[in-house]
Amino acid sequence: MTQTSRIAVLSPQVADQIAAGEVVERPASVVKELVENALDAGAQHVEVALEDGGRTLVRVTDDGEGMTREDARLALERHATSKIRRVEDLIGVATFGFRGEALPAIASVSRLELETAATEGQGVRLRVVGGRVEKAEEAARRRGTTVTVRGLFFNTPARRKFLRAARTETRAAAEVVTLFAMGCPDIRFTLTSDDRRLIETRAGETPEDRIASLWGPKLAGTLVPVEHRVGPLEVRGFVQRPADAQPAGRKAHLFINGRPFRDPFVLRAAEAGYRSAIHPGDRPTVILFLDLPGDGVDVNVHPAKLEVRFRDKFFVEKAVEQAVREALGELVAAATVVSGSGEWGGVPPDALAAALRRSEPLPSPHSPDAPDLFPASPEAVAAAAPHVPDLLQVFDTYILFESGPSVVIVDQHSAHERVLYETIMRQLEGDGASAQRLLLPFTMDCAPDELDAIEAHRELLTRVGYEVAPFGGRSVVVHSVPNPHPRFDAQRCLQELAADLAKGRFGGFANRLERFAATYACRAAIKGGQQLDPEEMRELLLRLLTAELPAHDVHGRPTIVQLPKDELERRFGRR
Ligand SMILES: Nc1ncnc2c1ncn2[C@@H]1O[C@H](COP(=O)(O)OP(=O)(O)OP(=O)(O)O)[C@@H](O)[C@H]1O
Ligand SMILES: [Mg+2]
Repeated sequence: MTQTSRIAVLSPQVADQIAAGEVVERPASVVKELVENALDAGAQHVEVALEDGGRTLVRVTDDGEGMTREDARLALERHATSKIRRVEDLIGVATFGFRGEALPAIASVSRLELETAATEGQGVRLRVVGGRVEKAEEAARRRGTTVTVRGLFFNTPARRKFLRAARTETRAAAEVVTLFAMGCPDIRFTLTSDDRRLIETRAGETPEDRIASLWGPKLAGTLVPVEHRVGPLEVRGFVQRPADAQPAGRKAHLFINGRPFRDPFVLRAAEAGYRSAIHPGDRPTVILFLDLPGDGVDVNVHPAKLEVRFRDKFFVEKAVEQAVREALGELVAAATVVSGSGEWGGVPPDALAAALRRSEPLPSPHSPDAPDLFPASPEAVAAAAPHVPDLLQVFDTYILFESGPSVVIVDQHSAHERVLYETIMRQLEGDGASAQRLLLPFTMDCAPDELDAIEAHRELLTRVGYEVAPFGGRSVVVHSVPNPHPRFDAQRCLQELAADLAKGRFGGFANRLERFAATYACRAAIKGGQQLDPEEMRELLLRLLTAELPAHDVHGRPTIVQLPKDELERRFGRR
């Protein structure tokens, strides 16, 4: 009895179609692969056209190096690539492609036309239907390549059914083009959809210009530059000023060595860089370019090359967090009062620092004559010879002074909240704060949920200086209190703190310590409506200047705004 073998080697067409399942999901993935090839070929202009969301047609034209006839045929075969020869070549591979799969995979599920010329005028046109080359002819064309993909998934109806509405597919494809355009600001990209121009960028743009041409000057105006290097890793790009972040609609784009990639952990690390400077729930726009040469990253871990694997993930995440933190720490991140003018500027940190410099040294905060309103940070004291220009308090809430070409306005509560928050975090993570033992302990009545909140946070309260014990019924007795500044009202602060903790305000903070510190800082800080003397104002500004994230309070609101002289002159008709 003869038995037919149950196992058979798949035909190349079937194998290609299976591979296509991983690589080609929708028109946007076709766009991605073809744009990658164009960029790998050294194109200066990449033109993408769609019809009917890419169902009917996806066409990518480039002015890159093109292919010879033989190469054009080879390119359509599986595992044919000009980009690597050996497995070792994958280490630090600089091209977008390397698998030799994209063209055959796309060709196996469409009617594809490949027109290419490596030499001006000497081109070839190949027609491929479902992976089979049906026709090859000469084509006189410019150097470069045009790939036209028609009838995507015409021979795999089940997959064609998964295509979404034309608008949705167009949007996904536009996102792909945007991403590459962001990654390669010097290259010109165009995208048309049913003859409508959706994206048009110029060649040779700076990253800032490119952001503006892709997303408009408004978004560009809310970003601050990131520039950070640790060992072999460089992190560059842009992050949004905390006050401009919104709960929805942000952009989040990551690139490694020029290649877009997805990584929720790296993104989270970037957000962690905003810690305590952003309103909980707001999601900032983040565009980061990581450069890590050598074997620090493996790009061959995902069929569509959308993910990468870092050898030292933790190192990369830490560096990204630090990079963002550093960028936001610059006072340049502070909001300006000019709105809608499209242009932005912050307080130049040097200008402010210079304005605050004077020849005598700052009195030590522990010396008896030193104003003690703001807890000393060692850096603040070390900051040499500060000088304060004339300060003016208005509405008992804002501190005004002149700095460089601007009037700078500081919100005293927000600024103090920021300063205290950082001090409290140091206390909570370190040895705690000094407390003042009360000769006469006081008792305080609480609502039941406030009692629970105090009980739940007793250990943290102790560390900042509140020694609290139950006193029967709805009361607590307070034996010691912190003394963060002379205007501090310990009882009122504890009462408000208990209420906030019970209500779960500041719920957006992921970390319990940070949540507690933010709540306490908010309640302990001097309030608006409190008159300050000049020394106190000066101290506050100096402390703020040495804070890690001086430009924002713990709610993400600005601590500082500036009114540029230009703007005054404009309003008074001097310009
Ligand atoms: N637009 C183009 N211009 C010049 N050469 C091209 C172009 N598109 C493809 N090629 C050539 O065809 C080969 C096969 O392309 P294909 O996209 O299938 O594989 P790959 O880019 O090498 O790897 P991957 O599957 O990871 O994309 C490339 O290696 C390249 O030599
Ligand atoms: Mg490719």
